[in-house]
Amino acid sequence: MPTCDTLIRNVQILDGSGSEPLHGAVAISDGRIQAIGDLSGYSAAETLDGNAHVLAPGFIDVHTHDDLCVIRAPEMLPKLSQGVTTVIVGNCGISAAPVRLSRGFPDPMNLLGEEDAFHYPTFAEYASAVASAKPTVNVAALVGHTALRNNHLDRLDRAASASEIAAMQKELGEALDHGAIGLSTGLAYLSANSASVEEVQRLTEVLTGTGAVYTTHLRSETDHVLPAMDEAFQVGQKARVPVIVSHLKCAGVDNWGRSPEVLQSLELARANQAVGCDCYPYAASSSTLDLRQVDERVTITITWSKSHPDFTGQNLADIAATWGVSQLEAARRLEPAGAIYHSISEDDMRAILRNPATMIGSDGLPNDPLPHPRLWGTFPRVLGRYSRDLRLFSVAEAIRKMTSLPAETFRLQSRGRIQEGYLADLVLFDATRILDTATFTVPVSPSVGIEAVWVNGVLSYREGSYTGRRGGQFLSRERN
Ligand code: ZN
Ligand code: CU
Repeated sequence: MPTCDTLIRNVQILDGSGSEPLHGAVAISDGRIQAIGDLSGYSAAETLDGNAHVLAPGFIDVHTHDDLCVIRAPEMLPKLSQGVTTVIVGNCGISAAPVRLSRGFPDPMNLLGEEDAFHYPTFAEYASAVASAKPTVNVAALVGHTALRNNHLDRLDRAASASEIAAMQKELGEALDHGAIGLSTGLAYLSANSASVEEVQRLTEVLTGTGAVYTTHLRSETDHVLPAMDEAFQVGQKARVPVIVSHLKCAGVDNWGRSPEVLQSLELARANQAVGCDCYPYAASSSTLDLRQVDERVTITITWSKSHPDFTGQNLADIAATWGVSQLEAARRLEPAGAIYHSISEDDMRAILRNPATMIGSDGLPNDPLPHPRLWGTFPRVLGRYSRDLRLFSVAEAIRKMTSLPAETFRLQSRGRIQEGYLADLVLFDATRILDTATFTVPVSPSVGIEAVWVNGVLSYREGSYTGRRGGQFLSRERN
């Protein structure tokens, strides 16, 4: 009789490919998927009856700011409770490594954690810190362009010189040698907005032929989103490197309704080069408070303020009224601060979400005292609200966007599918019940319907609780 470590029986297997479910069982041994199908002849050290629920590959959160969180809070409950088994960190130009803060602590690196939590002058030190923390989820890391700039430039409101670019190239190359999966930029932020196209191009060329990717928080997500997309695509095409547009959107009231243009630009580029994007399923963004985004027509909620912590959770309009000043002036007084901007149209967000090239990324901010609900809710919300209830796409398609598509795009070897020999990153969920419960007012709230989560074969979440077992790994980039 064949034996295995764990047998998950009586499940609807959605294998991540986008095809319809198969009823059967999955056997796990040594952290890998050993067999799939009718495994009635198997004996196992541990058997779990799936009650005919859905078994899918563990979800890959392609856009996170969990860089320091995976070390500080390795149980990673906000993600584990959603069925996430891998997080990609280092997005939007900010990463925990390689970072030296001798020249200052630029916005928005504070999204990752407090200044004294950054202990990783080299990428290798960060990789080994993650491996020792052994979080519940796997971690793959990008190198942030703003982090590199801060290591090598005396001020960030200018483009890098030739010698500074060379120094950043060298440091990026070292990170790639130690397993980094790519480069990210956050060109809309003031700490990177002065970087020239040339600077980004030279850095992206370090990725050529290495199997690494370029992800970008575009230079503009508002009026100038199309030229910003062109810039990103050209950089990737010249360097022959895949481009992933982070949290694709058309933000700002004046840009509502422009998703067809944005998606057309993506499609045109996709015909010629490797291009992808990610999206979170909400009509509101969140980041540090940015004076350029203050607009009386948009509801802005303050999530933290260093100068006025008492105003956490209040709307900027109310704070401005209390003080008898304009919203812009109130925002100035609140800085440095964090904010949620209800500046996206629901229809545009849905159009982008359903595009076949779109992956799911939470962009959750784990260090925020009043986080945007996407931190705890993204994946169950896509499955429960947008797939099951609103029928934007099938459950099989939703899962493809969360598993095989990201694994292929980011080249995570042997993950993202239920296939023999693949790593046993798995989630069991009740498709009739799955739903996010996190809201803008009560954002720290686990979703319902996630029955069990395995990471590298280790059962880490069961019936609403962390099991105390952690099996996550640091995922170094696979060589070409
Ligand atoms: Zn971003
Ligand atoms: Cu981000």
